[in-house]
Amino acid sequence: MSEPEIQDQTLWCTVNGQTVERKVESRLLLSDFIRHELNLTGTHVGCEHGVCGSCTVLVEGKSMRSCLMLAIQAQGLEIHTVESLGKVKHLHPLQESFREHHGLQCGFCTPGFLMTAIDMAQSGKSFTRAEIKEGLSGNLCRCTGYQGIINAVAHYFEQIGILQTQESGDSL
Ligand code: FES
Ligand code: FES
Repeated sequence: MSEPEIQDQTLWCTVNGQTVERKVESRLLLSDFIRHELNLTGTHVGCEHGVCGSCTVLVEGKSMRSCLMLAIQAQGLEIHTVESLGKVKHLHPLQESFREHHGLQCGFCTPGFLMTAIDMAQSGKSFTRAEIKEGLSGNLCRCTGYQGIINAVAHYFEQIGILQTQESGDSL
């Protein structure tokens, strides 16, 4: 028996402030749409099972693992990828902080950490260092040992006034 033909569907959404419209297969993952259809390769794909967090983007301002979402589910939604942050010659302050605090080595995990931290920064809450660790705990890094990443995010949160330092032993 031949397999039923999969119909393409028209997807329109906003990515990094630009409206995009494409015909997509209904089974296409959002991560593959972003990387292969839009050539936004800053979004990395590691596990493809929702475990590593490297594919994290913002969907309607909330961090989302783009490997766990179909592209067509983004119909009408606003997506931001790591490319919406800084450029090489004009880094976002969070990216500057990662550079300053050695928050990356190979960089594979970095876009996911950045987008997760941006979601936290935009949440309207403030965070202790322990809460930063907890907030980032769903993202995996094989290189850094995490201290540089935590330091980088804590420094950025301090810069924007959302780092709580009153806990005993909770300092940069
Ligand atoms: S590639 Fe999506 S969570 Fe690992
Ligand atoms: S910097 Fe290499 S995986 Fe995190």
